[in-house]
Amino acid sequence: MSYLISNCHLLVAAVSLSILGSEATSSTSAVGDPGMKRDGLRVAFEAWNFCNEVGTEAPSMGSPRAADCFHLSSSEDGGYGYYLNHKVTEADNRLGVGNSFPGLSPKALHDPDLYAAEKELYLGDLCQVEENHTSPWQFWMIMLKNGNYDTTSALCPENGKKVPPFPPGRFPCFGDGCMNQPILTHHPTSISWSGSTKYASDSVPVMRGGFNGTYDYLNSGSGNISYFEVTWEKRVGAGSWEFKHKLRTSKSYPWLMLYLRADATKGFSGGYHYDTRGMLKTLPESPNFKVKLRLDVKKGGGSKSQFYLIDMGSCWKNNGHPCDGDVLTDITRYSEMIINPETPAWCAPSALANCPPYHITPNNTKIYRNDTARFPYGAYHYYCAPGNAEHLEKPYSTCDPYSNPQAQELVQLLPHPIWAEYGYPTTQGDGWVGDARTWDLDVGGLSSRLYFYQDPGTKPAKRIWTSLDVGTEIFVSNKDEEAEWIVTDFDVTIT
Ligand SMILES: *[C@@H]1O[C@H](CO)[C@@H](O)[C@H](O)[C@H]1NC(C)=O
Ligand SMILES: *[C@@H]1O[C@H](CO)[C@@H](O)[C@H](O)[C@H]1NC(C)=O
Ligand SMILES: *[C@@H]1O[C@H](CO)[C@@H](O)[C@H](O)[C@H]1NC(C)=O
Ligand SMILES: *[C@@H]1O[C@H](CO)[C@@H](O)[C@H](O)[C@H]1NC(C)=O
Ligand SMILES: *[C@@H]1O[C@H](CO)[C@@H](O)[C@H](O)[C@H]1NC(C)=O
Repeated sequence: MSYLISNCHLLVAAVSLSILGSEATSSTSAVGDPGMKRDGLRVAFEAWNFCNEVGTEAPSMGSPRAADCFHLSSSEDGGYGYYLNHKVTEADNRLGVGNSFPGLSPKALHDPDLYAAEKELYLGDLCQVEENHTSPWQFWMIMLKNGNYDTTSALCPENGKKVPPFPPGRFPCFGDGCMNQPILTHHPTSISWSGSTKYASDSVPVMRGGFNGTYDYLNSGSGNISYFEVTWEKRVGAGSWEFKHKLRTSKSYPWLMLYLRADATKGFSGGYHYDTRGMLKTLPESPNFKVKLRLDVKKGGGSKSQFYLIDMGSCWKNNGHPCDGDVLTDITRYSEMIINPETPAWCAPSALANCPPYHITPNNTKIYRNDTARFPYGAYHYYCAPGNAEHLEKPYSTCDPYSNPQAQELVQLLPHPIWAEYGYPTTQGDGWVGDARTWDLDVGGLSSRLYFYQDPGTKPAKRIWTSLDVGTEIFVSNKDEEAEWIVTDFDVTIT
């Protein structure tokens, strides 16, 4: 099944027309909750192992998929009270292998990977919002990933192919169980008139909830433990939801990722090889879309924290055809703008293998990477090609073959003047700690001019993006690292 086939995505939704004097502008939001302003929140949680699967569930935690979705109602007694009508129970959130639920297929009942994928669909059904004249949508997705890989487990395929175990050393892993799923605590959203220092003087109630937890339940209790937390908060009827994130690595879990994602409401989102649920009720296609968000990075997470202002994910085959779930030929395509100023450009005149073969300027001029006078080396952190590409131009480097269910391609960008045209950061430090900003990014324009590999002579793939994320990936460093950031006002508009 392919997301391209769904004609629901062609429906135009939530058209807002503002007429300013003689000027009329129209923009269409691609997300179910434009700007995160809807009081009735829809948010879900998922945790992934190194190759975006579950492997083994954590004891008494159930399958690592959960959701917090509710309708805000006002009391009927004429008072000023409100209450939250939750759509997902804690029993739903704790569902794990061996427990049945409506729609579960028999083959998934005892398979933790298949079970999680189907649980996501089930939670999606509970959370789904169906409005007039628009495709249904489900939730924002909070994604947490553990970068440990036990190479002796043979759990992760190599470019989508099953491979035998191999000796440890290339990836972090403290031993048996290092690919575990986290302990997850859910603080269901509640509403109150007090308890917030920030809004103490307000006369409107505040809704607040969150997820938090750790990977370190196998530890004996010595040393610091890993930690993740996402809380959300909003005043009734005003402003945007504020998503506050914290992520801390530990000695046993030195490589962790935490993102807030707008994923497709159906089909394959970036990094998935199964049907997903999400927020993108219209799939944005290059070059005609923009992403708006406000990002306030409080703590960077150290020099190895690859903070993605925006990370876009999609999937197409090397011959340009859309993905169909065949992990041997589907290729996840990612492009990320990394805003940690400590992230260097690995692409350089002396390291052409880390650069894409060419750069395309806003006026559509192609500049080859061997054109040392003109190629913007500083604009690229790292480019790596799909491990199963057959016609790569030398020199090249191929992407990690294990950290995705299928082969992947990465185009990682750094702030550089060349991106100014798209509203992207132009200088190292833009948008970093102490420089909170509201971004209006021409992600569509930029992504239409990035190099992505395709077999020679094939028709260019339609660049349709199934995931747009913000968050950080903290790589292994020699100490425990902590990152903290706030995301608000997220929107994707079709232009
Ligand atoms: C949807 O359409 C129906 C029938 O036209 C109308 O009664 C209802 O108020 C609409 N709902 C929304 C949320 O606009
Ligand atoms: C999650 O948050 C709760 C409430 O703030 C706290 O008691 C608990 O210790 C946190 N979990 C972890 C793993 O720190
Ligand atoms: C396109 O832009 C490049 C640099 O951005 C400039 O050198 C070149 O002259 C421009 N070409 C055209 C045709 O405008
Ligand atoms: C630079 O790379 C292009 C594309 O691979 C190639 O056609 C050209 O000959 C190269 N130029 C030099 C000077 O190596
Ligand atoms: C544990 O956390 C403390 C406080 O954040 C920090 O000073 C210390 O270096 C950490 N320990 C290790 C082993 O990183």
